[in-house]
Amino acid sequence: MTNPFSSVRWKVLLAFFLIIGLSFLIMAGMLTNMLGRYLFEQRIRADRAGLEKWAVQAAPFLSAADTQTLTQTLAQAGNELSGRVLLLDGDGKVQLDTFREAHGRRLQYPEVVSILLSGQTADYGVHSLKTGREAQDSMLGFAAGDEWVSYSTAGIVHSSRVVGVLLLVSSVGEMMQNLYAVQDNLVLIFVVVAAVAILAGMIFSGVLTRPIVTLTGVIRQMSKGDFAARVPEKGSGELKHLASAFNSMSEKLQTLDQSRNEFVSNASHELKTPLATMKILIESLIYQPEMETQLRTEFLTDINAEINRLSAIVSDLLTLVQADAHTMRLDREKLSLAAIVKETAHRLEPIATQRGQTISLSLDDSGDMYADKSKLRQVVYNLLDNAVKYTQDGGKISLSVVRGGRDIILTVTDNGPGIRAESLPHVFDRFYRVDKARSRESGGTGLGLSIVRQIVTLHGGSIRAESEEGKGTSFIVELPLHKG
Ligand SMILES: Nc1ncnc2c1ncn2[C@@H]1O[C@H](COP(=O)(O)OP(=O)(O)OP(=O)(O)O)[C@@H](O)[C@H]1O
Ligand SMILES: [Mg+2]
Repeated sequence: MTNPFSSVRWKVLLAFFLIIGLSFLIMAGMLTNMLGRYLFEQRIRADRAGLEKWAVQAAPFLSAADTQTLTQTLAQAGNELSGRVLLLDGDGKVQLDTFREAHGRRLQYPEVVSILLSGQTADYGVHSLKTGREAQDSMLGFAAGDEWVSYSTAGIVHSSRVVGVLLLVSSVGEMMQNLYAVQDNLVLIFVVVAAVAILAGMIFSGVLTRPIVTLTGVIRQMSKGDFAARVPEKGSGELKHLASAFNSMSEKLQTLDQSRNEFVSNASHELKTPLATMKILIESLIYQPEMETQLRTEFLTDINAEINRLSAIVSDLLTLVQADAHTMRLDREKLSLAAIVKETAHRLEPIATQRGQTISLSLDDSGDMYADKSKLRQVVYNLLDNAVKYTQDGGKISLSVVRGGRDIILTVTDNGPGIRAESLPHVFDRFYRVDKARSRESGGTGLGLSIVRQIVTLHGGSIRAESEEGKGTSFIVELPLHKG
């Protein structure tokens, strides 16, 4: 199931959107701030220069109390500076107003106070006059419904004394409108950029998460038992590495699954044969109660042999399963491989003698080694047992133990039928028999050599087989004297 809006994608998109939104807000804020400051500064400079000029002109008329000339001068100033001009006396009381509204009122704006009390020559400030107009919010902070005005003041100085203040009230509404327009444009740009970013983010995150979605699908398939499923190893970088690592893991799982199935079916097959034989023998005993004693004993002996075979197979299987599960432990002790070889040869001597075979030993007793005695016994036994079993009557078998550097080398050689070159690489496989009919007859299951290889590997050694058809076979085992 592919969900195009998986949680990973949402998180990526959200992070994307947050980053863009935040950086945009910061940028827009800085931009309007800078622009506003620039516009105001231009305005202040112009207003101040104009007002100071008029303050100088008005000074002599104020001290002479020439109201008529003052009124004319103020009207001219108002025209030139395009605003409302007020003349205040030394107490901050309005003497003249080009709008003729505020006569006699005392104004205590900070811009006036700073001139009359703090001795500044000029000052400037921006104020908002709430009007009845409908307020429409611009998104970035200024209330667009306000009417903004600037108060510029300049001191009127006569004989080094501040005798009054000239106040210019002019609207900065147009300037503010320009700023709002910039803000509105920025909002528009933001909406467009955000839309494009989200679209790009969706496409991009889709491309990014698609391999993960595919991988999830394949994992689901595998958990249902389909180990043949693989992910495409496309693209580059981490996702490709992930895909190829995943595929090699699936391959191993598939091999493991196959070999397990093979193992179980081979094992069942091996167990079925002796059970079937036993069933026939036992049924004969049941349905022929009058059977001769000699025949009965023969049947029972056969049943006993089959039971021995069954238990041998089961114990071999157990050994292999243990080694597979890595639960096989080595009980290392000081031992002599030569002694084990001597002992094993002695055990198998009677069978070999019966078949007219000779077993010769060539033992270099010098190397004591640290290894698991009972497991090495099994190695030597399985190899010698094969040599005796597969070599014709009257054949020659030789065993040798020599030291080679830090290793000890065991060789089991016979002059038997040998193993075909194409079969040689498989003799260590589980349940593998070169000649199925013949070795089944001689009691083989095909587990002996795979157990040998497991034990040798566990000891840190190696094993190989050399053979020539019709001439004989050699198994060469190299074991380290000490572990590590
Ligand atoms: N010395 C040998 N000469 C010729 N063929 C051999 C020799 N040793 C092993 N083989 C071949 O290799 C096969 C595998 O040997 P392996 O010991 O694993 O199984 P097995 O002897 O058939 O059964 P098991 O040892 O489990 O009773 C044998 O079936 C046999 O065909
Ligand atoms: Mg064998």
